[in-house]
Amino acid sequence: MFGRTVARYDLLNTLMTGGQDAAWRRATATALGAVDGVMLDLGCGTGALAEALLATGGRVVGLDFSPPMLAVARRRAAGRWDVLAGDALVLPLAEGSVAAAATAFTLRNVVDLPAALAELARVLRPGGRLAVLELSHARGLWRLPLAAHREVLVPLLGRLLSSDPGAYRYLPASLQPFPPAGELAARIAAAGFRDVRWRAWFGGAVALHLADRVGA
Ligand SMILES: C[S@@+](CC[C@H](N)C(=O)[O-])C[C@H]1O[C@@H](n2cnc3c(N)ncnc32)[C@H](O)[C@@H]1O
Repeated sequence: MFGRTVARYDLLNTLMTGGQDAAWRRATATALGAVDGVMLDLGCGTGALAEALLATGGRVVGLDFSPPMLAVARRRAAGRWDVLAGDALVLPLAEGSVAAAATAFTLRNVVDLPAALAELARVLRPGGRLAVLELSHARGLWRLPLAAHREVLVPLLGRLLSSDPGAYRYLPASLQPFPPAGELAARIAAAGFRDVRWRAWFGGAVALHLADRVGA
């Protein structure tokens, strides 16, 4: 499905978020701070987050399992960062080999969230920081307008512009089973992280969780 959306993937992200997605990715990269070592972008897609990570300095590795996404990422990276084919559930990386890890709009899609978090914990070195940028559940007065955005505007933009409109009907559905911010924080902690904290935008519709690998 991700492979079929690749042609206008970045354009649709910009339109669906009013251009805010770039700011959220920059905030994610900034939250990792200066990193001495490899930064992993899990589910790198076309490489938008990897580019933001690269701007903070350090070595970046983007990983994804969709060949069309990987092809775009490789072109975009042009040798400035590494692109790796792999599955979030069985990362092709050694234990403790990553200094920091970030992931944007990916964990909602994995079939086994605890397994993906356990893999992130395994490859991060002790004290290494994790940043998870993901859609979440809006609260209060934000709920109604954001439900309309999710259920009406997003599928409409997908129908008009994407080569796979079905993916943009899947997008709202994919949020339903995903844990709310507090529960996601508890799951991150259970996977082997400490000091889990988060900030949110648009009444909680988008959340950035940060945590540090235990053991430092
Ligand atoms: C919604 S896109 C997000 C892409 C990018 N991170 C961004 O911010 O635009 C989700 C990406 O995660 C990848 N993905 C989903 N499940 C995966 C898995 N189990 N292993 C590796 N990549 C995965 C998809 O191929 C897709 O490129």
